[in-house]
Parts: sequence; structure tokens; C-alpha cells
Amino acid sequence: MEKTLVFIKPDGVERGLVGTVLNRFEQRGIKVERLELKQLTETEVDAHYQEHLERDFYPNLKRYIMSGPIVVMVLAADNVIAIVRKMVGVTNSAEAEPGTIRGDYALTTQNNIIHASDSVESAEREIANFFNY
Ligand code: PPS
Repeated sequence: MEKTLVFIKPDGVERGLVGTVLNRFEQRGIKVERLELKQLTETEVDAHYQEHLERDFYPNLKRYIMSGPIVVMVLAADNVIAIVRKMVGVTNSAEAEPGTIRGDYALTTQNNIIHASDSVESAEREIANFFNY
């Protein structure tokens, strides 16, 4: 089974959306393989977002991701990377379709509630950053 790395961002945790988001994945039939509530360190955030370190938005993104604990998980199913990205919706929540997680629970690009790996390579790298298999 394919695996993907997903986390619910600090505002999602703060707003009490962990159960709601998890429920969507479980009801879809996706297996939750690992799950942890975790306050990220600077090193962990830099490692996770390594391809965005030089972007102008990165300082804001880092401050946001470190503003409280996240709930990080490994989800598993056939084609789970593409399925979860569809369920999550596009990066800018204002443009995310209703019925997607961002389209139902978020309004902006920065505070977009949730992260999900975008490829097999990213999923493998991101999972290894957080969990030992
Ligand atoms: S890109 O250009 O396609 O590589 O970037 P994208 O995948 O859209 O975004 C990468 C992550 O950066 C976050 N992001 C931002 N955060 C704060 N402010 C701004 N302006 C901004 N633009 C993008 C975006 O939410 C992505 O985070 P993840 O955790 O991957 O969803």
C-alpha cells in the first residue's frame, strides 16, 4: 500500500478540527498507520520544507507552523497520495472547492489547515523526517 505524510497545522489543532479531519480519512477507507501530536523544532520545520527555504513567504510559514502543536500522521491506501491531495484541495483555501478540507474549513493560503505530500518522492522523504519504519 502507498503511504503519505499528512499533518494538521496548528490552527486546525487549535480550532478542534483534528477529529473532523481524521474522520474524513477514516470514512473514505484510508488507514491511519501512525499519529502523533508534536511541537516542531526549527530544525524539523526546515527539514520538512527544505525546497521552500529561500521563498519570501518562508519566515511567515515557519512562524505559523511553530505557533502550536501539529498532528502528524502517516496514511496508507492504494493511490493514497493523489486521493488525499484531492480531499485536501488546492493550496489557496479561497480557491479550494467546497467538499475539500481546505474548501470547507479554511480561507487563506497560509492558514490552510493541513499539509499532504505531493509525490512518492516527497512522501518517502517527509515520512522519514518524522517516523522510523
Ligand atoms: S509551490 O510554489 O507550488 O512550490 O508552493 P506551494 O506548494 O503552493 O506551497 C508550498 C508550501 O508553502 C505554503 N505557502 C505559503 N505559506 C505562507 N504564505 C504564503 N504566501 C504561502 N504560499 C505557499 C503552502 O501552504 C505550502 O505548504 P504545505 O504545508 O505544503 O501545504
